[in-house]
Amino acid sequence: MAKNCLCLTGKTIKQDVDLLNKYGKYADLAELRVDCLDDDDRLYIRRFPELAGIPVILTVRRDVDGGYFSSGEGARLKLLANGLAYANADSRLNFAYVDIEEDFNAPSLEEAARTFGTRIIRSCHDLKGSIDDISTKIKSMKRAGDEIVKIAVSVKSTYDVLNVFRASSTFIKQDKVLICMGHYGIYSRILAERFGSFLTYSSALSENVIPGAPGQMDVRELSDLYHFKKITKDTKIYGVIGNPLKSSVSPWFFNTVFNLENADCVYVPFPVTDVNDFLNLADGLNIQGLSITVPYKETVLPYIKEKSEIAESIGACNTMYRKGDIWYGDNTDYAGFTMSLLNFLGRKDLKRRKITIIGAGGVSRAVAAEIFKMGGKALILNRTVHKAASIASLYNFRWGGLDNHGIDLMSKFNDIIIQTTSVGMEGYDEGDPLETYEFSGKESVMDLIYTPDQTPFLKRAASAGCKILNGYDMVIRQACLQYANFFDREIPKTHLSQINSLGADGWNRIIPG
Ligand code: ATR
Repeated sequence: MAKNCLCLTGKTIKQDVDLLNKYGKYADLAELRVDCLDDDDRLYIRRFPELAGIPVILTVRRDVDGGYFSSGEGARLKLLANGLAYANADSRLNFAYVDIEEDFNAPSLEEAARTFGTRIIRSCHDLKGSIDDISTKIKSMKRAGDEIVKIAVSVKSTYDVLNVFRASSTFIKQDKVLICMGHYGIYSRILAERFGSFLTYSSALSENVIPGAPGQMDVRELSDLYHFKKITKDTKIYGVIGNPLKSSVSPWFFNTVFNLENADCVYVPFPVTDVNDFLNLADGLNIQGLSITVPYKETVLPYIKEKSEIAESIGACNTMYRKGDIWYGDNTDYAGFTMSLLNFLGRKDLKRRKITIIGAGGVSRAVAAEIFKMGGKALILNRTVHKAASIASLYNFRWGGLDNHGIDLMSKFNDIIIQTTSVGMEGYDEGDPLETYEFSGKESVMDLIYTPDQTPFLKRAASAGCKILNGYDMVIRQACLQYANFFDREIPKTHLSQINSLGADGWNRIIPG
């Protein structure tokens, strides 16, 4: 079973002990990153295993390997020797592991470590991601006995992760640590067990400490959200693919449901650079079902053998799952949006409703189709006017730009306003897509963004007295439909009300990297 190792990057021993007191319960072991400590505190590392109370890895990471130590090999050797000195017969008072790089040569220090039961982690940090043949590398690195070979590779693409995963199937019986560093490798950390890794490193990110390496997850999130310790060879894997995948409510939603059901399933964020490479990996990991987000809703189509009627007619899938040997595709965005909007308005259709849609991208296309289906009449306004015209012409809707002329047209389409652009979304364009529009307070306003809870646009609408709704409700509704696809049954109502009682604040929006 892969272990969760809390990487301690405090500046003082006291800070690290405080972190352990707070977060040690989520971890199986800790790594003392001596390179992060102030010079004075480096003198007191020998007592750390006793203070920690859980097994500790002793590490002095050099700057060339992604750490902070730059005082030369002599000084580093001294620190390591100091950490391993005066070995105690009670092994709990010694460091359980020492991390030594593959080019580090100090036979006497290694001998001393072995004698007193400190296991050697023989590490290689490939910050450039240049090792191609990782299996051969693993083989060449191990020097003796029960050494644990560790290879941490910076990954820049899904292909790089696939390469590491393929190497993981070699040397199955040998303890090894395989880490894909960086945003595109975060799921290798959650799925460490499936990547054949002896441990995964995590940080106390909520304390604003520096992460030990790029892409490390929060220690508590790994434990409480992903139930890292329960992930085995049999756990069924689900997830969401997208790029960039900065924020998604789905991991929180699905993992919370799985936990309520006590299901042996995990739902993982998969930032993906190439769908074909990822689906090869999905076969290797035996992934059961996927949510698909921007920009892959159309890219996945060639890999999907059968589709629901709606996915077929729209030409985009936001859900794929295995049916026997094939991938089956569906699109739950549309139904999720419609259910959410009608519930918000307390209506069964949109007959005699005049609606403005802001934006003319993929989402707007879906929104326009649904509004047409429900009998509404719409005006589409977009920065790039011809895109608004192209969607509007499908349904005999009006169109315009995000300018005074567009705002004039809105006077006849202001029962409902639906904001579909990315303007105002956390991490994207800040601001307001239509800042000169003055709300009367009578409009019902839906903004499909849910991070932040209220965009500047939605905030303005609320303060003018409008009835408002953000995209959270829609996302939950479409996720419920995805659940029904994945498991061929409705999500239990009791679980849904528990999720709803947690509300939009319950979910964790952080995907590191
Ligand atoms: P999605 O699938 O989420 O709809 P998309 O197809 O890329 O994503 O569409 C993004 C929408 O946000 C478009 O309407 C885009 O306007 P353009 O068609 O003019 O590009 C709109 N958008 C993005 N950034 C914008 C900005 N800074 N100001 C106004 N509109 C913006």
